[in-house]
Amino acid sequence: MSSADSRYTIVGATPEQQAAIDMLASQFLLTDERLGAIIKEFRRRMEEGLATDGRVLKMIPSYVTRRPLGSEVGSYFAIDLGGTNLRVLKVTLDGRGGVTSEHQKFALSEEAKSRTLFDFVAQCVDTFLDERNLRPLGQQPPIPMGLTFSYPVQQTSINSGTLVQWTKGLNVPGCVGRDVVRLLQDALLRLGLRVKIVALVNDTVGTLLSAAYSDPAAQMGIIFGTGTNAAYYEDVANLAKWKGPNPSSGEMVLNMEWGAFDSDDFAFLPFTPHDIKLDRKSINPRKQAYEKMISGMYLGEIARNIVLWLADQRLLLDGRSSEILNAMWSIDTSYLSSGAVDTTSDLSEIQQVIEKTLNISNSTFVDRQIFKVIAILVGERAARLSAVGVVATLTKRSDLLNKPVTVGIDGSMYEHYPYFHDILVETASHFIPQEQFKNINFTLAKDGSGVGAAITAMLAATYDA
Ligand code: GLC
Repeated sequence: MSSADSRYTIVGATPEQQAAIDMLASQFLLTDERLGAIIKEFRRRMEEGLATDGRVLKMIPSYVTRRPLGSEVGSYFAIDLGGTNLRVLKVTLDGRGGVTSEHQKFALSEEAKSRTLFDFVAQCVDTFLDERNLRPLGQQPPIPMGLTFSYPVQQTSINSGTLVQWTKGLNVPGCVGRDVVRLLQDALLRLGLRVKIVALVNDTVGTLLSAAYSDPAAQMGIIFGTGTNAAYYEDVANLAKWKGPNPSSGEMVLNMEWGAFDSDDFAFLPFTPHDIKLDRKSINPRKQAYEKMISGMYLGEIARNIVLWLADQRLLLDGRSSEILNAMWSIDTSYLSSGAVDTTSDLSEIQQVIEKTLNISNSTFVDRQIFKVIAILVGERAARLSAVGVVATLTKRSDLLNKPVTVGIDGSMYEHYPYFHDILVETASHFIPQEQFKNINFTLAKDGSGVGAAITAMLAATYDA
């Protein structure tokens, strides 16, 4: 199947090397038939999550029931806590669907990721306000802020919610089951900082709302970054588990937490031994199965597992490894993005990574070609699988597809992996009728997650959310 595609033919390879690559290609390439079956299951899991709490796809009500109009004006603050960074932002809405923002970025320290997270966040907010002379004094009212929290939270109101579990490498003890807004509010209090968290949103909800501020056709927000997930507007009539009051709009944004798809029985996604190995050694085994095949946190590690599998059979690097290559997570997913499009005649960019970053001398041209094929197979499988969630969600609301629909997308995989957008769109087009498909507009919602939290803070302040 694979060798028909010349991209998987390694010039100068031994028959054993080519056979191993062909086998990998057959594991990583997915037919439409296979994808169709996964989409069907995804839809079934969505329905399950809409009906009952605690299912694999959590379909969490966000308490956001409105759409911004685009005419709202003013400056709003937000904290955006993602998988790698923390940003504090001041976002100014111009009333014509446009925003400007000023932000400060802080890298999450290892200590913050494993212990002191909320004190670290409070400290960063303090720094941001202090450096801009914005810190409220004495009797001044607290500054309202939106919080984007990119982990699964069971929301209990627009500004409260309990952490379901950590994902994406964070593991701060004592937080699961507790209200994350309370935890942050307490940390802010410890610093004597007059800040009130008025809105709590998932990053996908933020991405959707930031797209919606500039475009009334926005229906769905997606992150393909360190992790992956999506949010969309659902008709509350379809949300059987919802016990709250019916919103006047009749709609509710749902945080799908789709990264968990297929985590319970591993029955539908195309697991290879390299995926299973990653899962076993991760800090959250048997969780986030879909996310582990798609997102930036994991793809480099899948590639590393393949590299070692080949090296151990002496089919790559003459059987050599290095201390760095032996260490988990040592292949950053960004190397896949650059390796997949290394068009230099001697694959010199890949050579740099092998020799300088991984510290393995004297790679051959065959070795480098194999690295490139691995970068393509792992990355393109991710892009193809990403279409599964997109198609399942859009066809779930196919009532909307008869007019223009915008899907706002953010995240490093979408932005940087070559042709991610094109592969996603091309794959999705095989599963949605052409006359509806032409109405769908996939757009980059750059920095949407933080801007969206500020917009939610605005919604909470202006309309009582
Ligand atoms: C993980 C989190 C989810 C978030 C996604 C993208 O899947 O569980 O809440 O939206 O990463 O950042």
